[in-house]
Amino acid sequence: MALKDFLAELDTLESDARAALGSAADAGALEAARVEYLGAKAGRLKAIQKGMGAVDKADKPAAGQRLNAVKQAVEAALEDAQAKLNSGAVKSAAPAIDATRPGRPVRRGRLHPITQTIERMKEIMGRLGFTAVEGPEIEDDWHNFVALNIPEIHPARDPLDNFYLSVASGQQAEGSGQQESQAALGPDGKPLLLRSQTSTVQIRTMETTPPPVRIVSLGRVYRPDTADATHYPMFHQMEGLCVAPGVTMADLKGVLQMFWQSYFGLEGEEHVDVRFRPSFFPFTEPSVECDIWHDGRWMEIGGAGMVDPNVLRAVGYDPEEVTGFAFGLGIERICMRQHGITDIRDLYANDVRFLAQF
Ligand code: PHE
Repeated sequence: MALKDFLAELDTLESDARAALGSAADAGALEAARVEYLGAKAGRLKAIQKGMGAVDKADKPAAGQRLNAVKQAVEAALEDAQAKLNSGAVKSAAPAIDATRPGRPVRRGRLHPITQTIERMKEIMGRLGFTAVEGPEIEDDWHNFVALNIPEIHPARDPLDNFYLSVASGQQAEGSGQQESQAALGPDGKPLLLRSQTSTVQIRTMETTPPPVRIVSLGRVYRPDTADATHYPMFHQMEGLCVAPGVTMADLKGVLQMFWQSYFGLEGEEHVDVRFRPSFFPFTEPSVECDIWHDGRWMEIGGAGMVDPNVLRAVGYDPEEVTGFAFGLGIERICMRQHGITDIRDLYANDVRFLAQF
C-alpha cells in the first residue's frame, strides 16, 4: 500500500474522531466514540494499525510516526471532551420532560380581592356612562389642595396628616450618620406629597377636558395612619365626577342608588336605600356623608356633594353654565364588608393562604 493512501486513512479517522468526541452530549455517547476509534480490539485506529504491514518497507517509519501522532491527538480530544462533560458545559441530552410521570394540577393565580372589587365597580360605573381615568400618586400643591378650594391655613395640609416627599441632600448630617434631607418641591416651588384622596383627579380631568365630563377614578391614596384593624397608611378610593349643564343632587342620589343596587346584585322588591347626612368638604357645596341601607343596617360609604363653584372656576369652567356632583368612597371597606374580612392588614400581608380564598 502506498504511504499516501495510508496517511489519507489516518487523516479521515482523525477528523471523524474529533467530530464524534466534540459532539458527544453525555457519558454514554463519549464511551461509544472511544470504543469506535480507540477500542483495543475492534477500534478503527487498531484496524489501520493492522494494515501497516502492507505499507512499503521504506515508508514504514513515516507511517508509524503519523499513526502515533494521530493516536495521541485522538486521546487528547477524548480527555478534553470528558473534562467538558464533567464541568457541566454540555447538558444531558435526555429529554427535559418525563412524559411518563403522572399529571399534576396546574395552580392558577387569581386577582387580589381589592382588584376584584375595583374591576366590579369600574364595570358598573362604565354601564352608567362613567369613563375610568387615572391620576398620579405623587401630587403637587395645586392639585391636592389649592384647586380643591383648600386654603393655605387648612388643617388638611398638616404634615402629620400627609406624606410630604423629601430628597436626600447627599450630605451626612453632622455626627448622626443619617442623610440630611430636604423637602421635594414641585415646579411651582411648593412641596410634593403622596395624594391623600382621589379628588385630585377631578381637577386633572377638568383641566384637560371641556364639559360635559363623567368619570370615575379608582386608585391608591396615602395617609400617615398607624395600621390597625380598620386603618392602613395606604388604601384605595373610588372618585366619581359628573359635570354638565343642569346636574343636580337628585342625579347624585340616583347614580349612587343605581350603583349600589347593581353592586349588591339586588332585584325586584329589594333595593338599596341611600341616605345623605349634612357634612363639609372644601370642594363641594353642599356636602354630604352618604350611607346605604344594606344587610339590615346603615353603612357609611363616603363623602359626596355638589362641586363647589370655586373648584369649577379653578379649572376654567363657568359655574353659571355647568354644575356637577362628586363623590368619593373607600374601596377597602366595601371589599371587607362583602367578604367578611375583619382586619384591613390581612389584605396587604401577602399571605397566600388568605388571598387564595377569594
Ligand atoms: N375626598 C373625600 C375624602 O377623601 C371624599 C369626597 C369626594 C367628598 C368627593 C366629596 C366629594 O374623604
